Amino acid sequence: MAAAIIDGKAVAAQLRSALSGEVSKFVDATNVQPHLAAVLAGDDPASAVYVRNKQKACDAAGIRSTLHRLPTEITEDGLLTLISQLNNDPAVHGILVQLPLPGHVREQVVLDAVTPLKDVDCFHPENVGLMVQGRPRFLPCTPHGVQQLLLTSGTQVAGAHAVVLGRSEIVGKPMAMMLVQRGEAADATVTICHSRTQGLAEITRQADIIVAAIGKPRFVTADMVKPGAVVIDVGINRVGDKLVGDVDYGPVTEVASAITPVPGGVGPMTIAMLLQNTLTAAKISVT
Ligand code: GUN
Repeated sequence: MAAAIIDGKAVAAQLRSALSGEVSKFVDATNVQPHLAAVLAGDDPASAVYVRNKQKACDAAGIRSTLHRLPTEITEDGLLTLISQLNNDPAVHGILVQLPLPGHVREQVVLDAVTPLKDVDCFHPENVGLMVQGRPRFLPCTPHGVQQLLLTSGTQVAGAHAVVLGRSEIVGKPMAMMLVQRGEAADATVTICHSRTQGLAEITRQADIIVAAIGKPRFVTADMVKPGAVVIDVGINRVGDKLVGDVDYGPVTEVASAITPVPGGVGPMTIAMLLQNTLTAAKISVT
């Protein structure tokens, strides 16, 4: 039987609609409008599209958004000066530095400069540490979006074997940590696989849940998936003029019990979770 399609676009729309209500309640109670400042350095067209989509979603949810566009030649010091201004601006609650940054800039230095209280991406080591200890201030947007999809699709996560493909700081590593925590859409037995993993297909075939975040188009083929597994595809790869995920979607739908499409799966959820973090940051600012 073909897999159920996990409709991330629809789930994200529901979450965003609920969030709009929460934002307006917060504004009524505090007279403070949540405000996300986005920093876009360079002219990567995909980044420009992502940032525009994030801003549109902010507008629709009643969250103010401002865009700080910087030329590719911006220096690290120039970026740090802007981050410092945003850190110190009481009207700004969330700061999003869109990645990748231009090659001559040390990403880590810039990301570490964002004050942890405005770190809506949950990239700062203080926030990563809190998350790993199971007492999160913010949750990282993409892994949190994946968790919400597991929850709304009714996937049994507790006790399941979840295999995360990829060990990036943005998705793979935090995803694995969140799935292993105690709690909702968690309590899984987690294996992390990466480019140096041996016998990868043997491992993925043991998975009840596969989260693919390795950035290789159609990497997860049907023979790597246990019949009935739930497959979450975090990949966004451009192949010719098409966007494809890390999963070989058509054939895998014949084996999996549920699967996320690309586009329309995890992507919209990332944005919804960013909005939620921005509201959280605004709440933190008034406490
Ligand atoms: N570039 C790709 N994904 C992300 C993300 O989640 N946050 C930021 N800031 N940049 C990205």
